[in-house]
Amino acid sequence: MTRVIRGQTLSFGATPGDLRHEEKGAIAIGDDGTILWSGPVPLLPRGFATAPVDDYGDCLVLPGFVDAHIHFPQYRMLAAPGKDLLDWLNRFTFPEESQYADHGYAAAAAETFLNRLIENGTTTALAFCSVHRACAEALFAAAHNRGMAFVTGKTMMDRNAPASVVDDAETSARASEELYGKWHGKDRLRYAVTPRFVVTSSDRELRLAAELLKSLPGALMQTHLSESIGEIELVRSLFPKARDYTDVYDHYGLLGDRSLFGHGIHLSGRECARLSESGSTVVHCPTSNTFLGSGLMSMQHLRKPERPVALGLATDIGGGTNYSMLATMGEAYKVQMLNRYKPTAAELFHMATRGNAARLHLDDQIGSIEAGKWADLTVLDPRATPVLASRHELSQSLEDVLFSFAILGDDRAVRATYVAGRKLHERLSA
Ligand code: GUN
Ligand code: ZN
Repeated sequence: MTRVIRGQTLSFGATPGDLRHEEKGAIAIGDDGTILWSGPVPLLPRGFATAPVDDYGDCLVLPGFVDAHIHFPQYRMLAAPGKDLLDWLNRFTFPEESQYADHGYAAAAAETFLNRLIENGTTTALAFCSVHRACAEALFAAAHNRGMAFVTGKTMMDRNAPASVVDDAETSARASEELYGKWHGKDRLRYAVTPRFVVTSSDRELRLAAELLKSLPGALMQTHLSESIGEIELVRSLFPKARDYTDVYDHYGLLGDRSLFGHGIHLSGRECARLSESGSTVVHCPTSNTFLGSGLMSMQHLRKPERPVALGLATDIGGGTNYSMLATMGEAYKVQMLNRYKPTAAELFHMATRGNAARLHLDDQIGSIEAGKWADLTVLDPRATPVLASRHELSQSLEDVLFSFAILGDDRAVRATYVAGRKLHERLSA
């Protein structure tokens, strides 16, 4: 049945400055879960006048958040005290991911993981799985049951890790292809070819990953790039002929506008120029980068006008320390401030919604509140906590309200989350 959601609606166009805001807005949603109409309440077409209404008063109604880099099999291993990235991977991450060979375990974990995303207002993600086919099967099935737009893939790893989290390159490529065949394009699901990073993939596996990316229409590619100094040194020793870390991916044909690289903290100007030219995306993962001591990624460095690299924003759970894209915006703000750049809240909200949707090639379907798009929505309550409520008394502009959500908000600020017009989460007042 058609339903109307009322609240303070906010959505972005292609840039953060292209902002559509209605203090008293309405969104009419059809039976199929898409948006039929949105605009100011007084202009709501008469045809929707008798539809049931969810009225959120002056709460903000936004497009659902998109998390552009997150690890499903790390959902419970936040706050693992590694010395640095490689130590953290070897001591905590690989042992935890080895559990996902078991389908029952992976299926139960997928329920918890997706519920957690929804509770945080995240309605779409580009997610890593483990190497095990059961892991990707479980996550695809759980996302499908919820009607989510979701992108994931089996992680490809065939070296430099314990036997319990590697397979061989051919098996991995075949399983990736089969998973693509089964899930890609099934309702709102998409496949991502997922070589973990060049440290854990052989020459053969990187070649096969590139072949998959070329041969599977509509597939994305996700991996890691230039995250920690120790990792960069290891890559240099594994690929002594490469000019730099980016050149390794470039050599295999893995750069491109469907490729998303997590972190990208220590990139040279040359690397940025190649990423820019190829249309690749670097995904900023600020809570992970500070937690693992990986470094302070500079958005300004990556966005230099003569060679701008497209940027995404992500939690990177479980290297990241918070599932909330609000907390992630807050950490991004602080990291950029340490780099002498002051992002606006609108810029950060744009990245977490329309921007990330575009990086995932899903902006024709999600990322903004417009007729024809899916009704994936997040409702934020500016008085959700005592601290937010008292700060809200001082807010003088929309930018101010958004800024206080980014700095002070987390899952508690999420009043409700809708996926394809269905309310999958509502927070009862504290
Ligand atoms: N590099 C390779 N694998 C990983 C991972 O799981 N997390 C992070 N943060 N970096 C990685
Ligand atoms: Zn990652």
